[in-house]
Amino acid sequence: VRTAAGPGIVALVPLYRGSRVPLHRQIYDGLRRAILEGMLRAGQRVPSTRALAAELGVSRFPVLTAYGQLLHEGYLEGRVGSGTYVRAAPPDDAFRPARPGRPAKTAAAAPSLPSTPAGAARAARPPARPAPDEWAVRPFRMSLPALDRFPHAPWARLVARHAHRLAPVHMAYGDPAGLGALRSAIAEHLRTTRAVRCEPDDVLVVSGSQAALRLCAGVLVGHGDRVAVEEPGYPGAHAALGAGGAEIVPVPVDNEGLVVDALRDEPGDLRAVYVTPSHQYPLGASMSAARRLALLDWAARRGAWVLEDDYDSEYRYVSRPLGALQGMDAHGRVVYIGTFSKVLFPALRVGYLVVPPALRETFLAARDALDVFSATLYQLALADFLAEGHFARHLRRMRGIYLARRDALLAGLARHCASVLSVHNADAGLHVATLLPPGTDDVEVVSRLAAHQLTATALSTCYRGPARRPGLLLGFGGFDEATLMAATRTLGEILRGADGRQGAVQAPQAEA
Ligand SMILES: Cc1ncc(COP(=O)(O)O)c(C=O)c1O
Repeated sequence: VRTAAGPGIVALVPLYRGSRVPLHRQIYDGLRRAILEGMLRAGQRVPSTRALAAELGVSRFPVLTAYGQLLHEGYLEGRVGSGTYVRAAPPDDAFRPARPGRPAKTAAAAPSLPSTPAGAARAARPPARPAPDEWAVRPFRMSLPALDRFPHAPWARLVARHAHRLAPVHMAYGDPAGLGALRSAIAEHLRTTRAVRCEPDDVLVVSGSQAALRLCAGVLVGHGDRVAVEEPGYPGAHAALGAGGAEIVPVPVDNEGLVVDALRDEPGDLRAVYVTPSHQYPLGASMSAARRLALLDWAARRGAWVLEDDYDSEYRYVSRPLGALQGMDAHGRVVYIGTFSKVLFPALRVGYLVVPPALRETFLAARDALDVFSATLYQLALADFLAEGHFARHLRRMRGIYLARRDALLAGLARHCASVLSVHNADAGLHVATLLPPGTDDVEVVSRLAAHQLTATALSTCYRGPARRPGLLLGFGGFDEATLMAATRTLGEILRGADGRQGAVQAPQAEA
């Protein structure tokens, strides 16, 4: 059931007291128009006649007459004991006028209408918005943690605790840097688990790492500045960093991470470089110590900023998690970015930056200008979630769960897909990078997978330059072992063309 139309409904029913049109007719016209134009939607409750009369400042009689007419004509329906609602399919739905301010669809763009009047009415109604494939929670959606294993009980208790007794200070405008208690908890977590050098005052809470990247672009990068990114790399970073008119310069990665020699060879100034040293997005390498030192040395000499995106460093399966680049930086050139999206859940929209002291005030002013501060209720709950140890416990529990999920994915790929797809890297994080034979159109493969309710990310879409390796990035964090095993079987069938459609992936010569 949709929300009830509130007092604002009077704006939909303009009354002209001096008009020759009777009041009941004006009320009828206003409500009918609101229904036809979609201001009042199917299933939405309208106010009682008594309430609307009071809102409009008229007697109940004209409202009763207008409602009676709308009920009779099928625009409204009464439900015993619960009130009056906009009907699911208003009678002249097919003749709904185009919404004001929006151009009517051209004939070419409009879906073809079925020939029956009932069908016409159905087709003309705006379709319920389907959940776009890319948001569906299904294998092998990237960037999803184990939402099925989230510790709902302690989280709900903390949210409820704060929601029940929100003090005025927590309902008013808050600190653009973020809640002090949360910044302290984040700083402690980063110092102990990521070897980040920071104090609470260096931490800036923002709405996810995407917002952090956008903020970096606004503060550090001007129009026309050149920013180096990993090739292949994270498209979200390319979008955020390029949004202000910066030139994005792709620099290759190998199995030690960003090739710093290639960065050195870049002619011209580079204002910043974006890297994912703990777990290179998307190919998965962890940046070697030698490369880290070389990168920091390059940045110090060139006066460039290093943007370290530490998006899913907590999970590493082959060795202990590596410390952050930021902790090795002696020159204050690294801006560190982290997020709770992969360790709790993305809809939380809480991420953070650790900024060098010299940049702090500028970042704060930019954050204030952007969206002032993040929602205080979630910050309060999150601060307690960290301080009371729930977060550390959750991270510990998740390690075993992700290891089992990753192993299930690898076993499924070995069993069902080995002839057509090779695993490139599965050492860390929540996704596995795989390669398809050269020449495969991985974007086309992804769309074939979508037709079978599977989601994957095409590796080629992570490149900026023309040389692109085809592959599939397969997220495993959000799905249990049985689901992953079943999904790999379907994946193998689709890759081999067993779904009956054209375009089977050719096994590479060496493996054939
Ligand atoms: C490498 C990388 N950085 C940043 C993000 C953005 O995360 P969020 O904005 O949810 O914190 C993602 C999300 O998938 C990512 O993969």
